Amino acid sequence: MAVFISKNEINKIKYSSDIVDVISDYVILKKSGNNYFGLCPFHTEKTPSFAVDPSKQIFHCYGCKTSGDVISFLMQIESISFVDAANKLSMRYGIIISSDNKTHNKAKEEYSKKEKMLEINKTALSFYIENLKEERAVDARKYLLNRNINREVSDEFSIGYADSQWNSLLNLFKKKRIDLGLAEKTGLIINKNGRFYDRFRNRIMFPVFNIRKEVIGFGGRVLDDSKPKYLNSPESILFDKKKTLYGIEKAKECSRKAGEIFIVEGYTDVISLFKHGILNSVATLGTALSKEHVRLLKGFVKKIFLVYDSDAAGLSAAKKSIAIFNNEFVLAKFIVLKEGYDPDNFLEKFGVDSFYKASTKALDSFSFMMESQIKINGDSVEGKVATISELAAYLSLISDNLARSLYVKKIAEKMEISERVVLDKVNKKLNDDLKYNKPVKNDFSLLQEKANLTGMEKLEKKIIGMMLQNKKILPEIIYRKVIEKFQNKELKDLGKKIINFKSDDVNDFLLNISDLKQKSIIAAILIYDENWSEKNCFKLINQFEASHNIKSIRNSNDLLKQIKTAESKKDHKLLLKLLGDWQIQVNKTAGINVESAGDKFI
Ligand code: GTP
Ligand code: MN
Repeated sequence: MAVFISKNEINKIKYSSDIVDVISDYVILKKSGNNYFGLCPFHTEKTPSFAVDPSKQIFHCYGCKTSGDVISFLMQIESISFVDAANKLSMRYGIIISSDNKTHNKAKEEYSKKEKMLEINKTALSFYIENLKEERAVDARKYLLNRNINREVSDEFSIGYADSQWNSLLNLFKKKRIDLGLAEKTGLIINKNGRFYDRFRNRIMFPVFNIRKEVIGFGGRVLDDSKPKYLNSPESILFDKKKTLYGIEKAKECSRKAGEIFIVEGYTDVISLFKHGILNSVATLGTALSKEHVRLLKGFVKKIFLVYDSDAAGLSAAKKSIAIFNNEFVLAKFIVLKEGYDPDNFLEKFGVDSFYKASTKALDSFSFMMESQIKINGDSVEGKVATISELAAYLSLISDNLARSLYVKKIAEKMEISERVVLDKVNKKLNDDLKYNKPVKNDFSLLQEKANLTGMEKLEKKIIGMMLQNKKILPEIIYRKVIEKFQNKELKDLGKKIINFKSDDVNDFLLNISDLKQKSIIAAILIYDENWSEKNCFKLINQFEASHNIKSIRNSNDLLKQIKTAESKKDHKLLLKLLGDWQIQVNKTAGINVESAGDKFI
């Protein structure tokens, strides 16, 4: 990708950013020695194998092998481009960057599009907030007060009001000469047959912020019972519901301190909890809880309370989330409120103490599964059979034998049947699964280092590390044409780049690589500090050359076999070609230079 920020400016950004500070927005880091450790946000794990090295300003996960610098971290965690990541950092640390007009490109356009859309949202936000104070919002204010949302709370949540005109916001946009095409992309205005009009009319407006407190969308609620109850901003480059949690910007700090967070279903639930002094709560946006949500929260908390309605929809949503919690190794507890209540009306009616009490009775995911399944299927024989089959399927997914047998016991007790029956069901399910089981695939393979590097590739990687950490060896590498013999394309390319790189500073080199994969390889190599003495350098190069020779001979043997076959089949055309290859191979092997660059090595 062409980059419009100069290298110089990128260096400025990286040297002024603090990788520990940036990563701490997503991961709880603990210092140990010179490095910081935490749970890797890029893969699922129980024990921390994610390391951040502040002196080199790099991160590396020993588990999934993702590594890189502060820019690549942001690129991956936020799924944004290199330019976006650099820009974010420059803004965060107040680094002024001037863009290079000649290389103006799509990336820059995209970035400025996002910035402009954020600006448009901000304009709308102030407009809605001001609107709520106007005469025309009298019903809206009444509605809010009715729900015990007073001025203080509505200010805290930046709640606003969209009036009932078709073009109030549109006119403001026009007056401010805002690009209406872009405004349409935010979803605030809609284009119908070439005419624009406001999307949100006569609705209470709940702005949705991202973790950095930027308005990325809105939820608009009607004042009565009309449908749809809520109208939400459509998804856009700003607004990705599966990554967004309402209230995260407020809950972040408090959740981090408390180590736990409540996930609820509705905007008004978050507001209600907040009013009652529970600041660590967020809501999904009418969508299912996603693994992205859980991964985001995993960075702040150890325990997640899920408070979903105890109606069928709520139960089924909560059940779906169990797999996500399990896969992410997050401790989840399920709070089941009295039937017909959500956190909002529960708190209004019974108060915060009762809510806390309910949270102490929160169920672990298995008990929750069991209770809700019993509730759904009922007490009849058929109901019990259905419940046991479902629970057996669930238990068969639990890999811990002890936990599994304890659960079996629990089911048997609860349903008043023998443990044997439950166990048989589970075992049958397990056997069935074994028969058809496919290995679990993970979805972060792009940056994952090739785990099964060949012996040669391992040596090549080592050589790259050596080249990075001892630049004095470069003349020797060049003289002996080491890089030319590399098999791994990526490493070969890197080797060439190192040779062509002028500065002595390893970190400088990392800064100048924009390719994510290569960056990752370098950081992974650098995290292992190795002292490359002159002697060790030569040893490694010799070892590499020896392996290369053997490899060439092996290839030749293959070739010999092919030649013999071609001879016996009298395939003259093929034979001619193979003999040519043979000649090349022989020359190559003979040409391997075991001499050293001697005095060129300083
Ligand atoms: P109140 O009725 O005002 O208390 O709303 P609530 O915040 O309690 O919402 P509810 O529990 O009914 O729904 C949970 C969430 O689902 C809401 O906060 C919205 O994000 C979403 N939602 C609810 N109704 C609708 C709808 O009609 N359309 C859309 N798009 N989303 C909805
Ligand atoms: Mn509600």
